Amino acid sequence: MKRIGVLTSGGDAPGMNAALRAAVRTGLSHDMEVYGIRHGYEGLLDGEIDRMNWSSVGEILHRGGTILRTARSKRFMEPEWQDKAVKILETFGIEGLVVIGGNGSFQGGLALAERGISVMGVPGTIDNDLGYTDYTIGFDTAVNTVLDIISKIRDTSTSHERATVIEVMGRHCGDIALHAGLGGGADGILIPEIELDVKQLCMDVLKGQNAGKGHSLIIKAEGVDITTDELVKTLEDVTGRETRAVILGHIQRGGSPSQRDRMLASITAAKAVQLLYNDNSSKAVGVSGGELVAYDLKEALEMTRDFDRRLYDLAVTLS
Ligand code: F6P
Repeated sequence: MKRIGVLTSGGDAPGMNAALRAAVRTGLSHDMEVYGIRHGYEGLLDGEIDRMNWSSVGEILHRGGTILRTARSKRFMEPEWQDKAVKILETFGIEGLVVIGGNGSFQGGLALAERGISVMGVPGTIDNDLGYTDYTIGFDTAVNTVLDIISKIRDTSTSHERATVIEVMGRHCGDIALHAGLGGGADGILIPEIELDVKQLCMDVLKGQNAGKGHSLIIKAEGVDITTDELVKTLEDVTGRETRAVILGHIQRGGSPSQRDRMLASITAAKAVQLLYNDNSSKAVGVSGGELVAYDLKEALEMTRDFDRRLYDLAVTLS
């Protein structure tokens, strides 16, 4: 394969730039022509395609966001636009595509793969919700951002002897909440994978209060079936402790990527391009049990990862 394209799609994640750098430079070192597609699938449909060289990806390894920009394309969900995308790629002579993104982006990639384009998925999302890989690019940085904020909230929460509910992202996956909750010593962790028991949570907070605990920190994943405001109100009513809500939002998506994310981005994107160089079948690249893995793209999308119940139980025991 001589000419490949690369795009970032869906929600941005710290480390997407590191993945782009690795994809471009691995391609160039294999004497391939590499094209950057701006604004994800949306830009592909508009022909926002430029040739990239070694220096196009200079000074981006440490930067959050994505220099290619990103988008969630509604148009691209329609089969006729997917056909059009293939025609555009053919016009540019692009035979293979590296898609850096999450589940929705990979689904888009699969639509192109089914139309004859070789697509390599590189897992870029803070949510850590792709079943075939243990970790996704951006997750580690997002968890560290949450940990940093937990420390700050702990200070003010202790001073005021309050409870604070911190809502984190993750869509339907509780990994950000679970990992940050364990690492940050949260008193309660609410995630979609575990049935919500508000009564139990209130009892736990009261137990802590009665044991002399000056504050309570509860980490709640956005996918949990109760609004943060409702939860705050119930906690305040039942425990009598002044309670505040902090919805972290997009702060979790920004910032310089951690070393783990730079590493994951570099090795998975480099592997994706090597696979395009050697082989034409579409795949998703990731890590499993510490090993670099590549699965058939369709199969990867069907894979589910077992919820780590032991990690959750440990967090509860230690809180
Ligand atoms: O998929 C990443 C993510 O940040 C989710 O955690 C969150 O639910 C969603 O994107 C927010 O999307 P947007 O930036 O489009 O509001």
